[in-house]
Amino acid sequence: MTGPVPELDERALACARHLRDCDRVLLASHIDADGLTSAAIAAQALERAGIPFEAVFEKQLDETAIADIAVTDYDTVLFTDFGSGQLDIISEHEDDGAFTPVIADHHQPADRDTEYHLNPLLFGIDGASELSGAGASYVLARALAELTAETDGSDPIAAADGGTATARADNRDLAALAVVGAVGDMQASGGELHGANEGIVGEGVDAGVVETGTDLALYGKQTRPLPKLLEYATDVRIPGISNDQRGALSFLDGLDLDLKSGGEWRCWAELTREEQQTVASALVKRAVERGVPASKIDQLVGTSYVLSEEPVGTELRDASEFSTLLNATARYERADVGLGVCLGDREGALERARKLLRNHRRNLSEGIDLVTEEGVTHEAHVQWFHAEDRIRETIVGIVAGMAMGNDGVSRSKPILAFAEKGGDGNGGTETDAEEIKVSGRGTHGLVRKGLDLSVVMGEASRAVGGDGGGHDVAAGATVPKGSEAEFVERADEIVGDQLS
Ligand code: C5P
Ligand code: C5P
Ligand code: C5P
Ligand code: ZN
Repeated sequence: MTGPVPELDERALACARHLRDCDRVLLASHIDADGLTSAAIAAQALERAGIPFEAVFEKQLDETAIADIAVTDYDTVLFTDFGSGQLDIISEHEDDGAFTPVIADHHQPADRDTEYHLNPLLFGIDGASELSGAGASYVLARALAELTAETDGSDPIAAADGGTATARADNRDLAALAVVGAVGDMQASGGELHGANEGIVGEGVDAGVVETGTDLALYGKQTRPLPKLLEYATDVRIPGISNDQRGALSFLDGLDLDLKSGGEWRCWAELTREEQQTVASALVKRAVERGVPASKIDQLVGTSYVLSEEPVGTELRDASEFSTLLNATARYERADVGLGVCLGDREGALERARKLLRNHRRNLSEGIDLVTEEGVTHEAHVQWFHAEDRIRETIVGIVAGMAMGNDGVSRSKPILAFAEKGGDGNGGTETDAEEIKVSGRGTHGLVRKGLDLSVVMGEASRAVGGDGGGHDVAAGATVPKGSEAEFVERADEIVGDQLS
């Protein structure tokens, strides 16, 4: 790929050359939508290049997880969507000769570097908004294909003329998964993807696997029946429709359209373009009438990212719904199911993933209710809540982010969310947790004012004997149980400094 930064491509080629010469590779990735799509991209690229591999997933790449990896007899470990933040620990194992790391990541790197380290932040690209873990893996996949083409003697220029076969040959078909990863990491801001992500979208469009367009920016356009689509859309609140089942129904009934088929409400994606336009204009008109500010109304429309090869009306067709489906597997210790879906298993894996998705949705909605009902505690510069064992630590960050903007939960302060590690999120499990997970979430607006949660979570956690990191807008940490109050105090100070 000839991206905007040649150095990034050169580093990708160096990583690819090392991988090509391996007998086999251990692929280790992170348990969320971006981590799964990263692994799926890397897996297909390795397979197509004829490099045998095995894939493992980790909730968190801590000392123990890295030590477990080091005792396997793989000489090379490919880390995707994590690894940069743990380079200090990884390098120790590298120095001991345990394995050679190859890293395709986008998190804030620790204070060490290594030869095969592919991270946008090293090349002036923003890892929180311009390239995800899946994006970095895609850049690596493109480099692997380029090497394979060289060895096969096939002509990379002739291979750039579109068509499914050539898109596969040069791995551009994997752009669809890279878009899902970026969207899953919430890299879209102001309704669309930017920077290097936009370049990947372009390659996906050329390869015929991605379609983009201006569309309603609501979650669930493929799978939610219209009334539910409108009722559940709360990012932009429209009085009398959002969170209002009867209101949403009567709004739709009031339109002069036949929006049902066989007695059932259709989904947005099943409407004709004209029908969509009629509904969208009526929605905007209603929002204006009810006094929704113009800046909010703008947010009702954005760029949609559609996976053109997936069937209409499925979670797989919309990048945002696809990413939620993946979180529903990986964040519940079923990364194997999500990986299966990414690799094209449209039967067993997809069915299991859908079952997990129903459970995930219930947990998100119960978690958001819990936060909204119990409220958050406001400090000068941050707000926080402690879910104890009532929200699973793997989704407490998603819940915190989704609760921002609800009653009592401000969008002008970052939110810190605590949960006990090791619980199933249903309460009552004997976790005896010694450790507490903290997730931090901000907004892009706060980041523009100076907020960097990766620094906040990293420094405040280390001050209390824990560790953490991540991105400016979203980060996490593990801290010892009992240190929460001190952690909040430190975090509050650091955020205060950043925003002053
Ligand atoms: O480890 P990783 O980088 O993949 O995870 C990033 C996390 O941050 C995702 O769970 C994503 O949903 C979250 N995020 C967020 N708000 C943002 C950006 C990212 O909640 N604005
Ligand atoms: O679960 P995930 O972090 O991928 O969710 C990304 C975004 O999708 C959320 O911030 C939310 O706006 C939306 N979402 C939703 N309903 C769900 C799941 C996700 O509205 N059930
Ligand atoms: O777990 P959570 O969704 O809150 O993670 C937000 C971001 O912080 C992710 O990118 C994750 O990889 C990162 N993180 C980290 N170190 C931790 C916990 C989370 O770098 N100990
Ligand atoms: Zn990521």
